[in-house]
Amino acid sequence: AGERPENETEKGLRVQDKGFLNTAVMQSRITYIDGDAGILRYRGYPIEQLAEQSSHLESAYLLIYGALPTRDQFKHFESEVLRHGVMHADAQEFFRSFRQAYDAHPMSMLTSAFAMLGSYYSEANPSLQGQRLYTRGDKTSLETMDRQIYRLIGKATTLAAMAYRVRQGREFVTPPTGLSYAASFLYQMDHLSEENYVPNPVLEKALDVLFLIHADHELNASCTTVLQTGSSLVDPYSAVAAGCASLYGPLHGGANEAVIRMLISIGKPENVPAFIEAVKRREKTLSGFGHRVYKTSDPRSFIVRKTAAEVFRVTGKDELLETAMALHDAAMKDEYFIKRRLAPNVDFWYADGLIYRAMGFPLDFFPVLFVVPRVVGWLAHWRQMMLQEGGVKIWRPRQIYIGEGVRGYIPIDERN
Ligand code: ACO
Repeated sequence: AGERPENETEKGLRVQDKGFLNTAVMQSRITYIDGDAGILRYRGYPIEQLAEQSSHLESAYLLIYGALPTRDQFKHFESEVLRHGVMHADAQEFFRSFRQAYDAHPMSMLTSAFAMLGSYYSEANPSLQGQRLYTRGDKTSLETMDRQIYRLIGKATTLAAMAYRVRQGREFVTPPTGLSYAASFLYQMDHLSEENYVPNPVLEKALDVLFLIHADHELNASCTTVLQTGSSLVDPYSAVAAGCASLYGPLHGGANEAVIRMLISIGKPENVPAFIEAVKRREKTLSGFGHRVYKTSDPRSFIVRKTAAEVFRVTGKDELLETAMALHDAAMKDEYFIKRRLAPNVDFWYADGLIYRAMGFPLDFFPVLFVVPRVVGWLAHWRQMMLQEGGVKIWRPRQIYIGEGVRGYIPIDERN
């Protein structure tokens, strides 16, 4: 008597929303998506305009601070981010402690490396500081927050390049000066000590555009993980490490790697119909298709397509392109996919993995190429949450309990 049904609380009915299909956990001013119309805007600016006219770091500033920077603001932001790319020498030992094998996945290293960063910057750890660190309108706390943001964006490329090179048994490269964010990354990945090394400008531009369009996508699984973790007021390095782990899965950021593995397994275009039938029998997954929010083509996929054409002019076409096209065309006219409104997402159409492959990145490095820019979106949302009116509310969802009622303990010898 007096017990409420499990789904009724003093606050009203508790709603079960498996997979958060229709749950909004916060109000946000950062990114707008209309999944039916295929619209994506950062702070009100259409993604197509930004991809055409902005740069990754300028859009990063926009996402984080809410407005396009003036020239001085941009210069300051860019120089802080690039300056913070330099990593303490101790980190080299950290990377060398990973299994030195060609198949040691770089995402495992990168996830650990973000968490490792937290041990370097105790100023970001609220529990060590014994206080809530970030207060709206307080200059010192905003500066502390900005420093962590510069560090994380700056060091994302450095850590990614370290995870890449350590597997190959190569020395690490100190971030250069005087290059753009994308060029500095390319330099750290493959610099072979030539004097005045300049990355190919077409590839630099392509990488910058791909970074820009991957910078944010509101509350996807990884961003939600960052916020959920951050809602306990942990340091941002730990929160970003959690987001990185979430992104690694093949239903999310691991999809760009999964698309290429799928295309390799299909091989030639003539094998596509049999693959489609296997997907419909639920024996296979068509990676790169379907999206929780987009029920039409992902607007980023058109930008990827244009970028691919430019890259392929430099690198030559990828032999898997024809298979990708055949798969796309077959799925788009098949009743199974039409009925479920499954369209190519950003990881499929001219699969951005095909661009990365053409640029010479190994397959398992593709999710890393997604994390590097996505750190920006995670931090924009984290900053927004930390500074929101009324302070941070810990994210603690409820469940609908469907297990046993109360039971009496039975000693082990009396169980049968
Ligand atoms: N291939 C075949 N069938 C699919 C696919 C697919 N790629 N995606 C969804 N479906 C089917 C489901 O089986 C389901 O069918 P049913 O209603 O008959 O059971 C229906 O379409 C609805 O799909 P859900 O899985 O319920 O959709 P949800 O929103 O939960 O999942 C997700 C979205 C995870 C992206 C899913 O579409 C998927 O697994 N896609 C492949 C992986 C992928 O490309 N992920 C990248 C996403 S974009 C990004 O993170 C950058």
